[in-house]
Amino acid sequence: MTVYLNGEFLPLEQARVPAMDRGFLFGDGVYEVIPVYSRRPFRLAEHLRRLQASLDGIRLANPHGDAEWSALIDRIVAEGETDDQSVYIQVTRGPMAVRNHAFPKKITPTVFIMGEPLVTPPAEQRERGIAAVSAADFRWLRCDLKVTSLLANCLLRQMAIDAGCVETVLFRDGYLSEGSASNIFMVKDGLLLAPPKNHLMLAGITYDVVLEIAAAHGLPHEVRDIREEEARAAEELWMTSSTKEVLPIVTLDGKPVGTGKPGPVFAQMYGWYQDFKQHVMRHG
Ligand code: PDD
Repeated sequence: MTVYLNGEFLPLEQARVPAMDRGFLFGDGVYEVIPVYSRRPFRLAEHLRRLQASLDGIRLANPHGDAEWSALIDRIVAEGETDDQSVYIQVTRGPMAVRNHAFPKKITPTVFIMGEPLVTPPAEQRERGIAAVSAADFRWLRCDLKVTSLLANCLLRQMAIDAGCVETVLFRDGYLSEGSASNIFMVKDGLLLAPPKNHLMLAGITYDVVLEIAAAHGLPHEVRDIREEEARAAEELWMTSSTKEVLPIVTLDGKPVGTGKPGPVFAQMYGWYQDFKQHVMRHG
């Protein structure tokens, strides 16, 4: 696999980062995951805008303009083995001479890009639905930034895996925030509900797409704070992300969500999402 690292295109095995890189020692960096369909990056402008917001949030200058990013991504996508890919971009604050929390005076950011084959969930997961656990959201208060310091998210995701589940649904102070690596939607009395974008969750690109599709098809929906009890009593719960698309959660902490089967609103949204994917994502 050919990857991009600091100005060079090279085989992944040859890509090396200094041990003093702040990304390695402090998790001091940001990232993006961009789905690519039929070799076309989906919502590139939106992903690059969110990358800029993450960089602004950690006070790191963007090493590239959008046109440069786009050219680098195009090259990685062209080199990739599959037509559908998941492009990963990472920018760290680069290497430092001595270990010091304070930013170095002169910064040379580390820029890394790779294109992995896009693996969407197996049909079985969307037909039968997935199991989730819940946990207290013990992450920091800037969950709106897509930063590489993902230890909390990794620990939270592993709770699901250890329980034989797929995702961990996070609640903070009695409210639904998101999943360990996804956004969460719920359905109540046929109404689609999503928590509002704020510093407690990542503004997912897929989250926006789902809300746009709901609006385009006249599906009643509302963006508002969701109380934990409401989420636990939902008729339907879904998780969304660039790589998982939309998946129905059918059990939460071992209890059935609604009927315990993927619900009718999910079935509708899944169909619309796939249509959208065929017509818009694949053809620009
Ligand atoms: N994660 N919330 C969190 C904490 C996430 O990590 C992600 C995505 C999302 C969904 O965002 P989007 O729809 O833009 O993918 C929400 C990516 C896929 C990852 O870390 O691999």
